[in-house]
Amino acid sequence: MYVVPGSASRGIADHLVRELSASEADVEIRRFIDGECYVRIKSDLRGEDVVIVQNTYPDENIIEALLLLSATKDMEPNSVTLVVPYFGYARQDRKFQDGEAVSAKVMAEILGNYADLVVLVDPHKEYITDFFGTKAISCSAIPEIARYMERMNIDVVIAPDKGAVDRARRLSELLGCESDHLEKTRLDDEVVEIKPGSIDVKDKVVAIIDDIISTGGTMARAVEEMVRQGAKEIHVACTHGLFIGEAIEKILGSGAREIISTDTIENAYSKVRVAPQIASVLRESIPKLKYL
Ligand code: R5P
Repeated sequence: MYVVPGSASRGIADHLVRELSASEADVEIRRFIDGECYVRIKSDLRGEDVVIVQNTYPDENIIEALLLLSATKDMEPNSVTLVVPYFGYARQDRKFQDGEAVSAKVMAEILGNYADLVVLVDPHKEYITDFFGTKAISCSAIPEIARYMERMNIDVVIAPDKGAVDRARRLSELLGCESDHLEKTRLDDEVVEIKPGSIDVKDKVVAIIDDIISTGGTMARAVEEMVRQGAKEIHVACTHGLFIGEAIEKILGSGAREIISTDTIENAYSKVRVAPQIASVLRESIPKLKYL
């Protein structure tokens, strides 16, 4: 088995090489002076099971993923798996208004054309896996986040909005505590309004979990609400830490003790590794792709 490291996901690709006892493909990836992407795979991938690892965020990484997929497929491997630790455009997963493009579907359809299997990590909505036109599955960072939080004595896990309810419930089950969700109304790209949930968090150690932290507006408001209710300690966690602009300052400034994210997007808060979860999905799924 070969792992092809995309330039946006080198860390996870390295972990997967070790977890799967695979070989790392020798790949040249560079940009021409005008910014266009060039890729060349130097390893011979003929007859191999190949795992390409590449985030599809920001836009330029989508092009790189497509070029890596195409170059791999041309070598007639046994199977091609695309692992997308952070699948961009996932939040536009339906038409919210007439005339909009369903961006998640467009990206999925294009990428899915080249792969026998796509693996996503905590996609914004589970049904995004149905958009790929090829076999696509998701795995979750929640078990690894739970392991990280094991000794924090969390009393309650909070979802900052309804969309995060299942994630909060799963984390709370693994931590053996209760869960609740807040009511979020988005006023614009950066501003949200948060209304309380039903559990009393006074004097409790709280974890707030979401799939993505982008501008930090959602988390900052959720933390403020917990502070207002008298929570003793607040830990904030997400799978995908985009941390745009002043996101970190906003969240810590609103009273969070700690920010935890995974390494799907590597940053100073990547305290949790997702490779073990991805590797276990690949170990189970790739043997079923064998055509030789
Ligand atoms: C949206 O539904 C997502 O799950 C996150 O809540 C959202 O992307 C967070 O964005 P921001 O950090 O900009 O509030």
